[in-house]
Amino acid sequence: MASYTQFVMFILFYSFMLPTWVVGKQQVPCYFIFGDSLVDNGNNNHLVTFAKAIYLPHGIDFSSGPTGRFCNGRTFADFMAEHLGFTSHIPPFSFSNGSNILLGLNYASAAAGIRRETGRHLGDRITFDQQLQNHELTLMSISDILGGSDLASTYLQKCFYHIGFGSNDYLNNYFLTAIYDTSNMFTVEEFTKALIRQYRSQILKLHNYGARKVALHGLGPIGCTPYEMSRHFSNESCVEYINEAVQLFNHHLKLLVDELNNNNRNLLNAKFIYLNFYDMSMEAIQKPSAFGFRVVNNACCGTGLNNGAVTCLPFEIPCQDRDAYFFWDAYHSTEAANKIASRRTYLALNQSDVYPFDIYHLVQL
Ligand SMILES: *[C@@H]1O[C@H](CO)[C@@H](O)[C@H](O)[C@H]1NC(C)=O
Ligand SMILES: *[C@@H]1O[C@H](CO)[C@@H](O)[C@H](O)[C@H]1NC(C)=O
Ligand SMILES: *[C@@H]1O[C@H](CO)[C@@H](O)[C@H](O)[C@H]1NC(C)=O
Repeated sequence: MASYTQFVMFILFYSFMLPTWVVGKQQVPCYFIFGDSLVDNGNNNHLVTFAKAIYLPHGIDFSSGPTGRFCNGRTFADFMAEHLGFTSHIPPFSFSNGSNILLGLNYASAAAGIRRETGRHLGDRITFDQQLQNHELTLMSISDILGGSDLASTYLQKCFYHIGFGSNDYLNNYFLTAIYDTSNMFTVEEFTKALIRQYRSQILKLHNYGARKVALHGLGPIGCTPYEMSRHFSNESCVEYINEAVQLFNHHLKLLVDELNNNNRNLLNAKFIYLNFYDMSMEAIQKPSAFGFRVVNNACCGTGLNNGAVTCLPFEIPCQDRDAYFFWDAYHSTEAANKIASRRTYLALNQSDVYPFDIYHLVQL
């Protein structure tokens, strides 16, 4: 009974807040995105790499067609920009012309990871360290526009930062044992801890550049992607040892959020939140019909086992009912899945989706 009452109060509490965001006022001056192919919106288009999506059917449901997004439509970051009241999506760093950098930039690059060598076999990519260097260039331009670095840092402290790395450090490094030797050098625990240590220092660098409202993207169940299911001939069940590794990463990432938020001298003067993609995705994969999905273990575009052995090729004909699929291609979720995840993390009605609170509350701070 108590929890039912709490639940009702939670709903009432949020209903009173609805008008402030439904109106669509822009809630932060800028939104900066760091990450991999889950949010890349064109930064890889001019690189020499196999990790590119500037061809149909990628973008088949996107207003301007293929843009470099690894999705049929909008990514998580696109939906988040809409929730935050931006009137357009955040442009890719590589193709920004300087006119709108005050609204933020998207630095994400497919195949990129926390570790430098991650994704190397696919070709060029912009690693997290390089994305931070690109952000440093942006900061110099912002200082010039605003008239000094003090004014720039006051401005940047109000912005929203979204960081999502780690998937490729497992997919395109640790578990790709034919190409990378990290699994010979480290146990999963050692690798994960080293990864989190490196991530921590990269995140602190971004904090040094002025980030104060930061959302960290937890890893999804990579063992349930059509790519891993096909590679392991697992038919309809997720690959457990891979899911265990990403859950270990998520566990340490959550501990990192606590450490950064609760550092006893409060030196950081910043708030970090964790977005629980793992449980949100598992919930949809286990109860597809509750979320409007019909197919959760086959990609909408791709061939071979689970449509995941070969990922979506240029001009391949994808599935018709794309909103009924959780996976767009061998690795990435559909627009329909991204829409649900962005809504659940922006304004969380289920407290398990975010930690310690949602994006709406983070940006109001
Ligand atoms: C910069 O890009 C924006 C959006 O794509 C465009 O509207 C604007 O005309 C461009 N400005 C210049 C100077 O090229
Ligand atoms: C895969 O699972 C389906 C449904 O459970 C079953 O009909 C099929 O025989 C399985 N295939 C293999 C190769 O195990
Ligand atoms: C909250 O989310 C978790 C994980 O996605 C799920 O297991 C749980 O059933 C959800 N609770 C409610 C009340 O929807």
